[in-house]
Amino acid sequence: MKPLPVDASRLQQQIDALAAISEAPAPVVTRVLFSEADLKARAFIKQLCQQAGLSLREDAVGNLFARWSGKDSKLTPVATGSHIDAIPNAGRYDGVVGVLGALEAIRALKQSGFEPNRSIELIIFTAEEPTRFGLGCLGSRLMSGALSLEKAAALRDPDGQTLDYWRGKARFNTQELKSVQLLKDCYSAFIELHIEQGPLLENEKIPIGVVEKIAAPSTLRVQLIGVGGHAGAVLMPDRHDALLAGAEIALAVEQAALTTGSPDTVGTTGVFRIEPGAVNSVPCRAWLEIDLRDTQLPTRAAALKRIEAAIPVVCKRRGIDFQIERLNVDAPATCDPRLVNTVADVCRELGLPVKKMISRAYHDSLFMAQICPTMMIFIPCRGGVSHRPDEYSSPQQIRDGVTVLAHTLAKLAA
Ligand code: GLV
Ligand code: MN
Ligand code: MN
Repeated sequence: MKPLPVDASRLQQQIDALAAISEAPAPVVTRVLFSEADLKARAFIKQLCQQAGLSLREDAVGNLFARWSGKDSKLTPVATGSHIDAIPNAGRYDGVVGVLGALEAIRALKQSGFEPNRSIELIIFTAEEPTRFGLGCLGSRLMSGALSLEKAAALRDPDGQTLDYWRGKARFNTQELKSVQLLKDCYSAFIELHIEQGPLLENEKIPIGVVEKIAAPSTLRVQLIGVGGHAGAVLMPDRHDALLAGAEIALAVEQAALTTGSPDTVGTTGVFRIEPGAVNSVPCRAWLEIDLRDTQLPTRAAALKRIEAAIPVVCKRRGIDFQIERLNVDAPATCDPRLVNTVADVCRELGLPVKKMISRAYHDSLFMAQICPTMMIFIPCRGGVSHRPDEYSSPQQIRDGVTVLAHTLAKLAA
């Protein structure tokens, strides 16, 4: 099969231009939901989509839909896409490859003279990353109905601001939030292209990963309220130090993840904030956010239970008040076997070796799988590194992924 004319250098230029829109100096990419950089990046993407001749729609939480209309408007569209928000101190490829790569796939298809029967829709999801509200996949969660409107209304960022406040600031509030939810099977398929964020493809020198399963994340937010005081004057036996309770809890998370018997259980205390944060003051408050994942629910549930049981024990011993909130407890997703085979066929026709794999990171695909047949295409990234500024995939690796995506979209939309 003759590969579609994917322009890897044009795509790389656009990836680099997007990376320059960041809250932190290069090589760091930070684009937290609703930050100035996030809004600027959205404008950049919209402009590129318009230049590619796509028609745009934005929903009430800022999910962006860029459509190439097919010849038969009665057919359900095929969708692709990913996210452009980036956690603090991130790199330039996570999510972006699935957005700008999909746009390049569409341009290559257009250039080849392909005319889709089904519409092809590129979706740029709002906040795949959990940074602002502690909850990942905000846009796709709302689309799938997995996040209730009550829970969405209760979300607070570290400054106590609500989702509605930020929707208003970004002018996404002209429609009601409930309009974000999509009907089941409103897409015939959803395909997400993404960097692997792990080392397997690189180690095995395989250019394409075909994802069969996506691991399930869960997140806890823990508030600890101790007693502050003068670091010189409060003697050690009299202390109720919120940080020390938090430190014990973080170690309990590590122990819980290490002892499930499954090598796939991973636990991370990725947020740990304290007040007042002065060297000569006993920490009176701490906030922890704990990320716990596994490919199977029973072992993750066991670890979650152990962590939730450890918190009251630590806090009682140290005289600390606490609150535990389960921000999300998600189920793993299975990719659609028919789509997995379609992509594997495309790779065979292109002469590209493939590896069937699971995704240990979560993605908007986790929630799209609740609405429509879904699958993911992975490409290698150097050293398996992600969520770091030195995240890297080569233009050739990206070109392979985009080529596979383009041919897959052509098959699905023909
Ligand atoms: C997504 O960024 C994840 O944390 O898996
Ligand atoms: Mn990420
Ligand atoms: Mn991602």
